[in-house]
Amino acid sequence: MVPMKRRKLLPPGSGRTGPSRFPLVVLFLLERRMGASRRAFLSGLGRERGFRVEEEFSGNVTHVISENNDGDEVRVWLDSQVRGQDGTPAHLLDISWYTESLAAGLPVEILDRHQLREQQRSEAEVVMISVSSYACQRRTSLINHNAVLTDALSLLPHNAELNEDEGRGLAFRRAAAVLKFLPEPVTTTTPLRGLPCLGEHSLRVIEDILQDGASREVESTKRSERFKALKVLNGIFGVGVKTADRWIRAGIRYLQPLQGSGETLSRAQRAGLRYYDDLNQPVSRAEADAVGEIVEKAAVSVLPGARMTLIGGFRRGKLTGHDVDFLLTHPEEGREEGLMPKVVSRLESEGFLLYQKTTRNSYLESEDGPARSSSSMDRFQKCFSIFKLSRGEEGGAEQTGNGESLTPSGQEAWRAVRVDLVVSPVSQSAFALLGWTGSKLFEREMRRWARREKAMSLSSHALYDTRQRRYLRASSEEEIFALLGLEFIPPSERNA
Ligand code: CTP
Ligand code: MN
Ligand code: MN
Repeated sequence: MVPMKRRKLLPPGSGRTGPSRFPLVVLFLLERRMGASRRAFLSGLGRERGFRVEEEFSGNVTHVISENNDGDEVRVWLDSQVRGQDGTPAHLLDISWYTESLAAGLPVEILDRHQLREQQRSEAEVVMISVSSYACQRRTSLINHNAVLTDALSLLPHNAELNEDEGRGLAFRRAAAVLKFLPEPVTTTTPLRGLPCLGEHSLRVIEDILQDGASREVESTKRSERFKALKVLNGIFGVGVKTADRWIRAGIRYLQPLQGSGETLSRAQRAGLRYYDDLNQPVSRAEADAVGEIVEKAAVSVLPGARMTLIGGFRRGKLTGHDVDFLLTHPEEGREEGLMPKVVSRLESEGFLLYQKTTRNSYLESEDGPARSSSSMDRFQKCFSIFKLSRGEEGGAEQTGNGESLTPSGQEAWRAVRVDLVVSPVSQSAFALLGWTGSKLFEREMRRWARREKAMSLSSHALYDTRQRRYLRASSEEEIFALLGLEFIPPSERNA
């Protein structure tokens, strides 16, 4: 080893601490990677130019300068220093800020490029938050810090479901739900490793988007003819994925060819096709409220004392939806029987229904038992409908749907809106409310929790304890969460 030549001369300004020209800027140069001699040299240079450069680190330091370190390394070092002192320095800066300030003879403005990146820190924080693997144990509001990722990631479950691959769809939905829950934007996949529900496939997609701005898989799916056609055809009310697939194999990809194809369409599909554009326009909250007024009025007029609750996405606070969902009940058990056909014929006579399909209640606890009721399909009296809603929303409850006039702009004076109605006996209404508030993933996760962790079977009708072999009654959502040993999550935080 060749011994390094020692500097004979003291570096300029060393040891001198003249009066500082910038007393509020207290600098400290980190020796790590810079080396002791370069540090002493640069410190001296700063002091000569009137900067206050401290020899020892203390709580007074406002700017920490380092060379060839990243923010995380400096943070780790700092965390070992400042323990017991109040306040950490405001700025972790690269040497470039210091040399530019020396050249300028004053502290230059701190720009983005001067600041050390502190990835590990936010990563560490993300990892620190505990993420339950059940979405029903997480509070997921509508604020999503990772919308870029979840939007892209949501296309893949959509595609999987269109291709009848439910398992894969669910896996992607769970992954997207974890990202929706994170308290800040994700910048690298490192902190995501170890979080539940994020498999290799999802991580790869996330990584591509973070690195290249887009995922090749997502982009090529988006462009694929099959996906585009499935999306259009399945977007028709009344058309399921099996039908869409059959039509595509018969060479039908878009709406136009379908109309002239000679395919026999169901009543629902004919309505879906006729109102395609309207039904693919999001429903606003104002429109939801207008429909609510109409439905409530109809329900109360055919059954005094009937109660209506807005359910589905709007109950979770969503500003728009693909439809509007309502639950109807009556405080006296049994009075709700036959309510649906009465409400429907009332609405029909008032001209509000463009289409409706009603199913009657087929749920009988004694016959159905817990095994069947755990399925996601419930057996309430239900009505899947298309409403004719006048465009001036205040007019909603006052007017009937019979008017045919155009608005001054020549637009139809009404538009078609999908509306779901469900009637529940009051004894099951807490379960119906919970089961119909969603989100779909939240519901699925609640049922999974019940089954796997509690040996219980949850449906929109009831909760059954398989060990005790008995139904557990509840008259509020809060009670159901409690029976399941879950912390209560309000509707606005069920947006998983
Ligand atoms: N639901 C159900 N049985 C059905 C249809 C829906 O139990 N046959 C439940 C779903 O599980 C969901 C809720 O009803 O929890 C609302 O469903 P839906 O209207 O499809 O979804 P929203 O969450 O309301 O979303 P959007 O705003 O798009 O309508
Ligand atoms: Mn809905
Ligand atoms: Mn619905």
